[in-house]
Amino acid sequence: MKGILLAGGTGTRLRPMTTILNKHLLPVGKYPMIHYALCKMAEAGIRDILLVIGKPSAGLYTEYIGSGAAWGLQVSYRIQEEAGGIAQALGLAESFAGCGEKLMVVLGDNLFEDSLQEAVKAFEHNDKGAHVFLKKVGDPGRYGVPELVNGRISRILEKPERPPSKYAVTGIYLYESDVFDIIRTLKPSARGELEITDVNNVYAAEGRLGYSLLSGWWTDAGTHRSLLEAGIRLMEREEP
Ligand code: DAU
Repeated sequence: MKGILLAGGTGTRLRPMTTILNKHLLPVGKYPMIHYALCKMAEAGIRDILLVIGKPSAGLYTEYIGSGAAWGLQVSYRIQEEAGGIAQALGLAESFAGCGEKLMVVLGDNLFEDSLQEAVKAFEHNDKGAHVFLKKVGDPGRYGVPELVNGRISRILEKPERPPSKYAVTGIYLYESDVFDIIRTLKPSARGELEITDVNNVYAAEGRLGYSLLSGWWTDAGTHRSLLEAGIRLMEREEP
């Protein structure tokens, strides 16, 4: 199974810092944000990772991560010229993914505690379609929110005004290689992006979207407050 780590986009919610430094290089505790996702992918047993980055700060990623050897990884890079959405960024990984390979996809601003090793192993050997990870949150309207019917995800609503559940769909996804066929069928959303939620809804409509719940702490460090809170929490974990 290969890994794709998405760190493109513009990080507008974290301006003004992100006008000079890409969001995923901002400090979270002791490390740049991107460090944590790489560790989590390595922990899950993924060795071959494509990092999708924007043009700004691109050189700093290679300076920090290099070939990935320090993490026991083989990391390659792909530039997303314009922020066209998460699904568009994922689409850039098609040639890297190769034929028939299952994929772990992580959004670079997601920080979490759970080990995904078991879930990744199970998906690799048994599951078909796609798998998402849900987390109960106080403010689901900020995220993709699943509607659960008889224990299954019937659909996901992106940043809904009236969330159908208390869960966020986190930025950790497992896919079969047909994800690229689905991305080719997408149309840009109202905000002009190819949405990962639209990809997941195709799997949901076909009854091929599995899920599990994260039991540990999770945040997406996409706002100043969540970035600060994540920094404090991860710092405390490193230096209790
Ligand atoms: O964090 C979980 C949430 O992430 C999910 O609940 C939502 O369903 C999903 O749409 C996404 O929502 P956000 O609004 O938080 O996505 P954002 O635009 O902040 O992008 C998240 C990451 O995806 C970002 O850190 C890097 C990557 N990305 C994003 C865009 C728009 C790219 O690599 N390229 C892009 O063009």
